[in-house]
Amino acid sequence: MSRSAWHGAGGPEDWDRHASLYSRQLWLERASVRTALALLGARGDERVLDAGTGTGEVLRQLGRVHARPRAVTAVDFSVGMLASLPPLPCGWCAQLCDLRALPHASGSFDAVIASYVLHLLASCDLPVVLDELRRVLRPGGRLVTVTPALPPRGPGRALAAVLERAARSAPARLGGLHALDPRAALSAAGFTLAAARWSLRGYPSLCVLGTLR
Ligand SMILES: C[S@@+](CC[C@H](N)C(=O)[O-])C[C@H]1O[C@@H](n2cnc3c(N)ncnc32)[C@H](O)[C@@H]1O
Repeated sequence: MSRSAWHGAGGPEDWDRHASLYSRQLWLERASVRTALALLGARGDERVLDAGTGTGEVLRQLGRVHARPRAVTAVDFSVGMLASLPPLPCGWCAQLCDLRALPHASGSFDAVIASYVLHLLASCDLPVVLDELRRVLRPGGRLVTVTPALPPRGPGRALAAVLERAARSAPARLGGLHALDPRAALSAAGFTLAAARWSLRGYPSLCVLGTLR
């Protein structure tokens, strides 16, 4: 993967345009989201933030877990994506906001999931967003991330390398395929790396669990 700065993939209006097509590719994310939610292990008494919720794949899966969290806040900066969310259970809500400047008080959440969003951010915005996610987590809180990433070996690595080249050649259209291993950035933002799992069904992806002291 090239080490040059990544300029990001798409503002809210781009995601508004993608919203109707987005759900068609969700089957390629499902296994990774499932892996991430298992790593996060959210409990019924917890407050969870779904950062960059999109059309709500995380919410659909969270709604089916045995101990469904009592309070889930789903945020996104695209009106079009939020308009495609499923009906939310009582106690869950959706908000239009930018991850670079969250409106929530410090320590508002026990757990955060950022599924297929960190890799879209420009290199200069990634630490800003991670600082915000750390700020809104309580001490001892957990963050789980899912990003397309280059697996260390195996056939998934060749496929991920092709997707990465495509993302860099057409960031506006294919930037969602950009590969990112977020572990160094998570550490730099103050998270302790607690676990990492590759998911190679669908998009080759890396799920990372970071915890706060
Ligand atoms: C690839 S989609 C992922 C959606 C969902 N998390 C999933 O796993 O299916 C990325 C989402 O992040 C949102 N997003 C990107 N940058 C954002 C930002 N700075 N603030 C809020 N939302 C953002 C986009 O609008 C889009 O809905």
